[in-house]
Amino acid sequence: MQKSILILGACGQIGTELTMVLRDKYGADNVIASDIREGSVNLMQSGPFELLDATDYGAIEDVVMHYEIEEIYLMAAMLSATAEKFPMRAWNLNMTSLFNVLNLGKERKIDKIFWPSSIAVFGPNSPKVDTPQHTIMEPTTVYGISKQSGERWCEYYHKKYGVDVRSVRYPGLISWKTLPGGGTTDYAVEIFHQALEEEKYNCFLNADTKLPMMFMDDAIRATIGLMQSDPNAITVRSSYNLRAMSFSPEEIAASIKTHIPDFKISYDPDFRQHIADSWPNSIDDSQARKDWGWKPEFDLESTTREMLRNLRGQN
Ligand code: SER
Repeated sequence: MQKSILILGACGQIGTELTMVLRDKYGADNVIASDIREGSVNLMQSGPFELLDATDYGAIEDVVMHYEIEEIYLMAAMLSATAEKFPMRAWNLNMTSLFNVLNLGKERKIDKIFWPSSIAVFGPNSPKVDTPQHTIMEPTTVYGISKQSGERWCEYYHKKYGVDVRSVRYPGLISWKTLPGGGTTDYAVEIFHQALEEEKYNCFLNADTKLPMMFMDDAIRATIGLMQSDPNAITVRSSYNLRAMSFSPEEIAASIKTHIPDFKISYDPDFRQHIADSWPNSIDDSQARKDWGWKPEFDLESTTREMLRNLRGQN
């Protein structure tokens, strides 16, 4: 089926991979990548690209009209660690960009929206283990507050204006193609690069800080799977919990050691420890499994294998 798709924030950790998979699926010319900066050579050469600021409604509207865009994936955001340093800039980027796409939906200029939420919507008062879909949230980070507010607005625009907006709460995402930037879970990507380059890693979280995580291939499958689902099957219009695996720095280090026996990890927690402490250890995603058949494929062992294999191949 032909459809015209715009990705905002296409040069980031998720956007880069999502763009390539969507281009494969729907044809390169039908998937317009956009960001405030240019991206990898691969991304830039594989299809159309527009320099676009996700906070500029008029500029997005022009691109939507020009390419007759039907779907928008909004992947531009400031993540948890950076957002603690620039609260107002984070709020402005994360909320203005969301309102821009929601309002394009309300005006019937686009048909469908994907917007990612995060495990950061939960806070210290949420149940830590198998955190349910519906529970106490009370996020204590700037990023989490913006994501929780965003979820409320998504549900509101769906109920009030019939906007077809869909969302998942991503856990920490582990990928080898593009580095993450400014997140608390970034250690789980950095650790692989350092393991290969130096056989050691100094972690900014404590040894036993367990967080929900997911390999990027699973995240992309979840995203596209949800977008392809029958709208009537989607009972959650705020954002779906997703689960793949949970591990701590010492557990991922042990997994890397099975491939690189001399690998050593040390711990020097900084301000990101407080952010991580406020988030769940593991997530209950039974609603996503029931509504649209979500199921992860990668666990810690297969993630470690894929990361090391691909990063070795890159060097
Ligand atoms: N990976 C994100 C972060 O650490 C969570 O959504 O900010």
